[in-house]
Amino acid sequence: MNLEQLHKVAAAMTAPGRGILAADESTGTIGKRFDAIGVPSTPDNRRDYRELLFRSTEAMSKYIAGVILYDETIRQNAKDGTPLVKLIEKAGSLPGIKVDKGTKPLPFRPGEVITEGLDGLRERLVEYRGLGAKFAKWRAVIDIGADIPSYAGILTNAHALARYAALCQDQAIVPIVEPEVLMDGGHDIDRCAVITEWVLKTVFEQLYYQSVALEGIVLKPNMVVPGKKSGKRASVEEVAEKTLRVLKASVPAALPGIAFLSGGQSDEDATAHLDAMHRMGPLPWQLSFSYGRALQHAPQTVWSGKPENVAAAQRAFNHRAMMNGLASLGQWKADLERKAA
Ligand code: 13P
Repeated sequence: MNLEQLHKVAAAMTAPGRGILAADESTGTIGKRFDAIGVPSTPDNRRDYRELLFRSTEAMSKYIAGVILYDETIRQNAKDGTPLVKLIEKAGSLPGIKVDKGTKPLPFRPGEVITEGLDGLRERLVEYRGLGAKFAKWRAVIDIGADIPSYAGILTNAHALARYAALCQDQAIVPIVEPEVLMDGGHDIDRCAVITEWVLKTVFEQLYYQSVALEGIVLKPNMVVPGKKSGKRASVEEVAEKTLRVLKASVPAALPGIAFLSGGQSDEDATAHLDAMHRMGPLPWQLSFSYGRALQHAPQTVWSGKPENVAAAQRAFNHRAMMNGLASLGQWKADLERKAA
């Protein structure tokens, strides 16, 4: 393991003013997104849509430091035959790859899941590195309910994340460590804070036991927000303040960067929350974004599968990427959204 090299990549992925585009939806998930815009989910349509994003020159060269791909996408060529990975590299961004195999029910723990994909991971990482991947992603999912999560659920997922992260570093690939506490439940913001802190502390303990070098990882956490079914809203300041408190109490300063997931927040909330945290600095790590929905919802809707909408969809993507780039510097303003509308 060359730690200096891993550190350089991890720092580049979260460089000030830039963040990560999570374009690694599984075939099932992108199918749901395409259903919502009335587009059949065929390999060519998925390619056309992702090509549109990767050819958005302004967003990709200025604001998107890395792109997380799905297994199908890392092997696909653009319409003119150029590998999609090359489009990303040409724009000055780093290609990465989702390597987990999704979740399965955790035995004897109703309502809890475990992320699978460790078997054969070493060999898959070697192949992905050959295809150009500089970093990888593994997502653990923790749901909040009346009696969940359990310690067993948190520990099992944290252990798998740490095994994955160690294998990645051993293969010269930077691991994105993503323990996502879902925002779907009926819980309030303080319960989200308690569970997120418990999860993060367990994850860093397991990373330590697996000898993962924190200088060469990127953490991808959820923000601390009220559950969607609670019917409650928290102010931007409350989300920023509670998220920062949990992170400062749980995440060592050795980490070069943290890149949030958007998790179902509205596009503008995800931007405003990140911006507000920067205004509460100084912070011990670079704080950035690794958004899927909050970067893609707007361009997807504009595109709707029509070639004549490609340029407008690229403008929508450029706009969201710029807004989040500014938020990662604490320089975003709500007016900038109105002006673009
Ligand atoms: P969202 O930003 O849509 O939550 O997606 C990020 C991601 O990569 C989830 O694994």
